Amino acid sequence: MGTARRVERAVVTGAAGFIGSHLVESLLQQGVTVLGYDRRSPGDNAMAAQNLGGVLGHPGFRLVQGDLVTDDLKPWVNGADTVFHLAAVPGVRPSWGDTFGEYLECNVLATQRLLNTCVSLGVERLVLASSSSVYGDCTGPLREDGVTAPRSPYGVTKLAAERLALAYALAPDSPISVVAMRYFTVYGPRQRPDMAIGRMLRAVLTGEPLHLYGDGHQRRDFTFVADAVAATVAAATAEATAEAVNVGGGDSVSVLDVLRRVAEIAGAEVPVRDDAYQPGDVQVTEADLTKAQTLLGYRPSVTLTEGIVHQWKWLSARTPTTDCPAAVTA
Ligand code: NAD
Ligand code: UGA
Repeated sequence: MGTARRVERAVVTGAAGFIGSHLVESLLQQGVTVLGYDRRSPGDNAMAAQNLGGVLGHPGFRLVQGDLVTDDLKPWVNGADTVFHLAAVPGVRPSWGDTFGEYLECNVLATQRLLNTCVSLGVERLVLASSSSVYGDCTGPLREDGVTAPRSPYGVTKLAAERLALAYALAPDSPISVVAMRYFTVYGPRQRPDMAIGRMLRAVLTGEPLHLYGDGHQRRDFTFVADAVAATVAAATAEATAEAVNVGGGDSVSVLDVLRRVAEIAGAEVPVRDDAYQPGDVQVTEADLTKAQTLLGYRPSVTLTEGIVHQWKWLSARTPTTDCPAAVTA
């Protein structure tokens, strides 16, 4: 344990997703053997095919298609020293109403099943994708020891999953240590199609207006995906028993400001249609990164403008589509 631990065999749940696929690439580049686990597979899902296109066929990588809610996880977790648990149904706004059962199953029950499996097999470290949505309203930089009062059903499930994982780590004689990554609005190439920056860039390419929720003065601590991945990899070897840590981009920026930057980068205004404030959206997120620096040696390295340029180049090299499926049906 401690800083001397190494990652040799990892499981990445949610490997076919946005952040998970970037994490898989980074681990493979560092010589880690990776088993990716996801209910989507490139054979039957275009998003999975896009996200995993760069790693399929890599000798260190194997993808297993399965459901964390129902399937026996032991055969796939067996032999792993580290599990990165990124699988979840994401998205704040679609989590109200009838979709909640799926959020509950995929975000909470699946996490508990995975934790049970890890503990029974003696897995040493679980790194879990938590979320800034565990906090709720923000009255200054958010610290990990501050109040958690989620404002959306999604945020409630992410907080439940985080607390479950920490409880497993703190149980007497537990073999597993846990680091929960509180990611703040991650963007970059392959960003989920329901999220703001990708939608703005696609609006420029297609002419289909972005629906601007509320007045655009809401602010987010947008985090470039490579920075989120670097923090996640560092969490696997950090000295920790049971920790939650913020992973932010280092700057809290309004949606109106992002629209201006996108217009400058893309060389055209973003077509916008005013729409209502969406329940569950908080007004501001802003991460205090002191703990991330101390625990993980983390400092964001990509500014928002640089990151949007990366995402714009990636997207404009592809065929634009107006198709933005709700995350819950992805
Ligand atoms: P994503 O939807 O692109 O990836 C999630 C993956 O999990 C998908 O490929 C999905 O098929 C898989 N999955 C869901 N339920 C499953 C199940 N029952 N069994 C197996 N696989 C299942 O989402 P993302 O944006 O990459 O987010 C990754 C993680 O980070 C999630 O836990 C999310 O809550 C968290 N997070 C994301 C952001 C962000 O800005 N993207 C911010 C904070 C937290
Ligand atoms: C993002 C992720 O989607 C969540 O999965 C994650 O948990 C959360 O970050 C987090 O940080 O924890 P969100 O901040 O809503 O959620 O990210 P975006 O979808 O990129 O939205 C950013 C802002 O743009 C929000 O205020 C939203 O209301 C606004 N927006 C988004 C629009 O005005 N129009 C859109 O079409 C999409």
